Amino acid sequence: MNLCESRTLVNLMRAFAGECQAHARYYYAAEAAKHQKLPVIQQAFQYTADQEYEHAGVFLKQLRTAGLENVDISAGYPVDLETDALALLRSAQHGEAEERSILYPDFARVAREEGFEPIAFLFDAIAKVEGTHSDRFAELANLLESGQLFSKGGGQTRWVCLNCGHVIEGPDAPAQCPVCQHEQGYFVRQEYALFTR
Ligand SMILES: [Fe+2]
Ligand SMILES: [Fe+2]
Repeated sequence: MNLCESRTLVNLMRAFAGECQAHARYYYAAEAAKHQKLPVIQQAFQYTADQEYEHAGVFLKQLRTAGLENVDISAGYPVDLETDALALLRSAQHGEAEERSILYPDFARVAREEGFEPIAFLFDAIAKVEGTHSDRFAELANLLESGQLFSKGGGQTRWVCLNCGHVIEGPDAPAQCPVCQHEQGYFVRQEYALFTR
């Protein structure tokens, strides 16, 4: 089948549009988290947003192979009505879960039926990444909701300052980093910090 006449072409454009919007929505969510003094949530949104931007690029590369200058679509996309960090995390968690288990598996199935196996592989692979996004947002939302984002509630754990890298052990993240003086919102449990294990 020619890509220009396929449902896969439309699905690629829907996916491209969705990834571009996720990239933007997560940067807006990051800004909101920053205003709520939650730089750790801000950074999680930015880190994930940058991956969505790369997913958009993967889909755009495939779209270019059709050689068309315009592709029409009709699709619905989420609007984040609430702007507090917890609501944004939950909304992102659910959107990612839908991509992982419904949207991209469906796009992969159609691509396979139409004979575009390499594109089916990309939809499947990116579905798995969205699964890790959903899990990340769920975990952070659970910690925030239960008051455990900066408190282990007993026992010791290691906390890393995302600003200066200072590591401190204790049941709670300090109110302020003793090294760089940045607020508690910069602290993250060591198991969630990149490159510090
Ligand atoms: Fe994505
Ligand atoms: Fe994602």
